[in-house]
Amino acid sequence: MKALIPAAGLGTRFLPATKAMPKEMLLVVDRPVIQYVVEEGLASGADEVVIISSHGKQAIEDHFKPDDALVRLLRERGKDDRADAVHHAGNLPVSFVYQNEPLGLGHAVHCAADLTADESFFVLLGDVIVPSYDMLNRMKVISDEHGGANVIAVMPVPKNKVDRFGVIAGEEVGKNVWKVSGLVEKPSVRRAPSNMAVFGRYLLSPRVMELLATTEPGTGNEIQLTDALQTVLDEEDMYALVVDPEEGFDTGTVDTWLDTNNRLYARRSAR
Ligand code: G1P
Repeated sequence: MKALIPAAGLGTRFLPATKAMPKEMLLVVDRPVIQYVVEEGLASGADEVVIISSHGKQAIEDHFKPDDALVRLLRERGKDDRADAVHHAGNLPVSFVYQNEPLGLGHAVHCAADLTADESFFVLLGDVIVPSYDMLNRMKVISDEHGGANVIAVMPVPKNKVDRFGVIAGEEVGKNVWKVSGLVEKPSVRRAPSNMAVFGRYLLSPRVMELLATTEPGTGNEIQLTDALQTVLDEEDMYALVVDPEEGFDTGTVDTWLDTNNRLYARRSAR
């Protein structure tokens, strides 16, 4: 099973910091944002992480390549902990596919279609770090309990913020579990079916990948993953795991990235 991480965005909110460096390489405490997301994907039991990148983001690939010369040099100098960290990053099972045009999240995910084959797959959006690394496993349990159903993570948000997210319709069927009956991408506050926002962690069936091939552009004139999820509801079940806002650390804006650094650093220092 693969874990897909779309990472083809321009990083506009961080310019000029992201002019020459991909936003996925921004530092959070001691490693780039994307390394947390890759490690979380692997902690779910996925055998490989596929990063959907765009050309001009060579630094991400370099980060995940082995660098034996550097490891050797660090060991010679007695810096074994740094050598271990460099070895670890360079030997994670990561591969790359490319999105050549920014046509939307749904399109980005579909760029990995040849790699997921006929298997279910995870999608992890990189703007949010989940340091506990256990959310995908909880989603897998729900999927297994319901015959391999699609499962997405959702988070309650204040009603006036729903227009920034995908939002679900549905009903609670268990503790922190909803059965999803509909999804809409970035609805107006008035038309939002709930305040449960799609959080950026998905466990999806091969049928969703198929549907993405023919999903038309939607909100923002982009091919939306949310729209393919709405379509698959005609054929397959979908459940939502309600997660606590405290479980995710947002890195999508300068303010939230700084705040995440401060909070995770404080947490590490307290250990
Ligand atoms: C994407 C998804 C949206 C989801 C959000 C979570 O939107 O399309 O459904 O709620 O991520 O962060 P984006 O933030 O890329 O506009």
